[in-house]
Amino acid sequence: MSSSSVSVGSGVSARLLPGAPVADQVLAEVAASVGRLRAAGVTPALATVLVGDDDASAGYIRIKQKQAAALGFASPHVHLAASASQADLRAVVADFNADAGVHGVLVQHPIPGHLDYDRALAELDPDKDVDGMHPVNMGRLALGLPGPLPCTPAGIEALLAFHRVPVSGREVVVLGRGATLGRPLALLLAQKRPTANAAVTVVHTGVADWPRYARRAEILVAAAGVPGIVRPEHVRPGAVVVGGGVRYEGRRLLPDVDESCARVAGAITPRVGGVGPTTVAMLFRNAVRAAQRRAGLG
Ligand SMILES: NC(=O)c1ccc[n+]([C@@H]2O[C@H](COP(=O)([O-])OP(=O)(O)OC[C@H]3O[C@@H](n4cnc5c(N)ncnc54)[C@H](OP(=O)(O)O)[C@@H]3O)[C@@H](O)[C@H]2O)c1
Repeated sequence: MSSSSVSVGSGVSARLLPGAPVADQVLAEVAASVGRLRAAGVTPALATVLVGDDDASAGYIRIKQKQAAALGFASPHVHLAASASQADLRAVVADFNADAGVHGVLVQHPIPGHLDYDRALAELDPDKDVDGMHPVNMGRLALGLPGPLPCTPAGIEALLAFHRVPVSGREVVVLGRGATLGRPLALLLAQKRPTANAAVTVVHTGVADWPRYARRAEILVAAAGVPGIVRPEHVRPGAVVVGGGVRYEGRRLLPDVDESCARVAGAITPRVGGVGPTTVAMLFRNAVRAAQRRAGLG
């Protein structure tokens, strides 16, 4: 458990909830699982697909490939030109679907505007969907069936558990109902499990007085993608505040949670290095679990 805290101005200091130690723990478990698979003659493979020449996307792919290699994964990669057609992308996805040696596939988002990402995702084998965003996997999540979990929500559950933030029976308010974060997180934290089991409320633009709900929350999760939308007056004193939503302006990261919330919160994710590192760790957890299932070792 972390004992560091953040103090903004004078007054109360919130305990910090960094993501890095959570990610380290998850990745250590992944590395151990990869080791067992390799000892059993299976090299887990996480394939990546990049379309176009976006620098940031290419950078993310490089980081993931480096991490994959460090963990012992094979990482076949296909780079399609920015002019690639939907049929080109479908063919790459179909090849990876058919390749029994590939256990997970990641199509880096965003892809060029003339292509339909959701279509490509829907064409992916749901069992190889390491983002956990395939419609079948969203359905499994809604039904409580096993399958790859959406990475950011799963990372938030792991972060709260790691820092021993009690969730079961508590009032969680999620600001945002987006498909990546708010909606799947609400489903996840309402599941019957000691690290979840919460009373979850989801608020959005349809709830004009969302601050009234936010102020009730014992755990408040910002998932709106609106910089600075969560301010101290929205936080119940002593509450746990998780900043999931971010917007990028160039390379500058603008979080949903205003830093001054640390004056009121009991615990809070740091401005940088909170939810982000746990998201990446969950991608590898999904990938190794896919390999374990395929090998009958899961
Ligand atoms: N940290 C990470 O690793 C990580 C990973 C993935 C995503 N994210 C971030 O998570 C955020 C959410 O992504 P998403 O794809 O799930 O959601 P999204 O599709 O961007 O939707 C945003 C949600 O926030 C709500 N919202 C926006 N402005 C609001 C306002 N002024 N008042 C109340 N509600 C408001 C919207 O309400 P309506 O539905 O009514 O429009 C919507 O439900 C994004 O900032 C994204 O960058 C972070």
